[in-house]
Amino acid sequence: MTGGPAAAGGNDTRAQSRSALRLCMITAELAPFAKTGGLGDVCAALTRYLHRAGHDVRAFLPFYAKIDRRDHHFVAVEFLRNVALSLGPWQLEFTVYTAAHSGAPSLGLYFIDCPALYGDGSFYTGGEEDALRFAFLGRAALTCCQRMGWSPEVVHCHDWHAALVPLDLQTIFSWDRLFAETRTMLTLHNVGYQGVFDSQRLLPRLGLEGVAEKLHQEDLQAGRLNFLKTGLLYAGVLTTVSRTHAQEIQTQRYGMGLEAMLRSRGDHLVGIVNGVDYEEWNPATDPHLPYHFDAEDPSAKAKVKEHLMAEMGLSGDAATPLVAIVSRLTSQKGFDLCFEVLPELLRRRPELRLVVLGSGERRYEELFSSLEAAHRGRVAFYRGYHEPLAHLIEAGSDIFLMPSLYEPCGLNQMYSQRYGTAPVVRRTGGLADTVDPFDPSTGVGTGFVFDHFTPQGLQWALQRALDTFADRALWSRLMANGMRRDFSWERQIERYVAIYRTLSAG
Ligand code: ADP
Ligand code: GLC
Repeated sequence: MTGGPAAAGGNDTRAQSRSALRLCMITAELAPFAKTGGLGDVCAALTRYLHRAGHDVRAFLPFYAKIDRRDHHFVAVEFLRNVALSLGPWQLEFTVYTAAHSGAPSLGLYFIDCPALYGDGSFYTGGEEDALRFAFLGRAALTCCQRMGWSPEVVHCHDWHAALVPLDLQTIFSWDRLFAETRTMLTLHNVGYQGVFDSQRLLPRLGLEGVAEKLHQEDLQAGRLNFLKTGLLYAGVLTTVSRTHAQEIQTQRYGMGLEAMLRSRGDHLVGIVNGVDYEEWNPATDPHLPYHFDAEDPSAKAKVKEHLMAEMGLSGDAATPLVAIVSRLTSQKGFDLCFEVLPELLRRRPELRLVVLGSGERRYEELFSSLEAAHRGRVAFYRGYHEPLAHLIEAGSDIFLMPSLYEPCGLNQMYSQRYGTAPVVRRTGGLADTVDPFDPSTGVGTGFVFDHFTPQGLQWALQRALDTFADRALWSRLMANGMRRDFSWERQIERYVAIYRTLSAG
């Protein structure tokens, strides 16, 4: 009775070796359908590359109103229409749609359509409705598995949004033999977001009153329900998205209050650095670029830069250093350092140009707006989210700025390297794992790395980058080093598969 990829014929059947795994992904974001940041990129790539490696992957996400129904060919799954599912006292119905994923037509992408929950607003409401949205997502996904008669070996939960699922499997769904062998993985993409709600209000609404003794007791006493902590208690294995961050989150400085719990599960916490989907992020083929280039022939990068500067109203030429930011504008990304450093640097280095794409907290938006107003033709700020412009900026800039306070992995610093744009980063999390400091005396390295989260640290790194940029031969060497780095997903996928296998054997 299944309609999923296991039932698909042709190449897919052949690709599925005897050791193919059944993997269920549950996520709030999956690009290009739903993306606000790296979570969307990573979940899209992870599902697609696992599918390509022959595994039976089925990913579930909400059919948000914001997803444009006309952009993709969505089809309702006949046996998953008007499925009844309760959420606490609330009787809801959902219908499941599938869509073709570029490059993997038979990959199982399942969109949970429940207008009562996902019918308006953006991906996140920022309020209590999010608790309902995502608690329901997990249960709807497991209900779909039941209807498909499909028994996943691993349910891979992403971030707080899916973190109730391990508990749900041990409570609401524990009667079902279908899940008897199912194990769970919870990936922590960002412990800065934990899904914390008022427990008095939410426990009844989520139908969790009967299992209150299984929740984090201190939190409950303080009137809180914390989705992520629930996941930390019940997931079979925990991963985060870089090796350094896996260590960092066990410390008070980076653990966001979870450090003790994470230390106690230290044996089951693994860091796997994210990969880059070079089918989406490749300057040789990127459809968002007017000209293409690669490590062998980077010459067209100068033309992309010229195009970008003209588009953004910036003056200058190939010799003018162009610094870029593409980011959610939150304190995580380290922009507090920019208030002091950027005005001063713009004053002292008249050649400097800055292009910024992003939106978020008002104080950062105001900083970049005011810099643009004070330095017309030298600073350009696009406030908002713009996928094609993100690609153009990666390709057309010289220096990419990511001075993060903390960074579980970060993708832009890896994209930048492939696009010949040298990252300036703080040594934390995935930035520490993926950017090698450039040493002008040996010509080895791919970017500029500073240690201390201080304006002086950022200023030092930016100065070094600008001084190196002025030496054309040295800069070409640095660009070539970065463009040749390989962060492809194929390798990282194997690390996930190894853990899935250990889990399902245990
Ligand atoms: P995070 O997930 O913390 O936001 P990452 O570096 O992992 O950081 O991923 C950010 C992703 O979101 C990248 O693909 C980046 O290009 C994209 N992005 C961030 N802000 C914007 C924006 N304003 N417009 C387009 N893409 C953006
Ligand atoms: C998070 C992190 C980012 C990471 C992304 C994908 O949003 O902030 O560092 O790259 O998830 O894992």
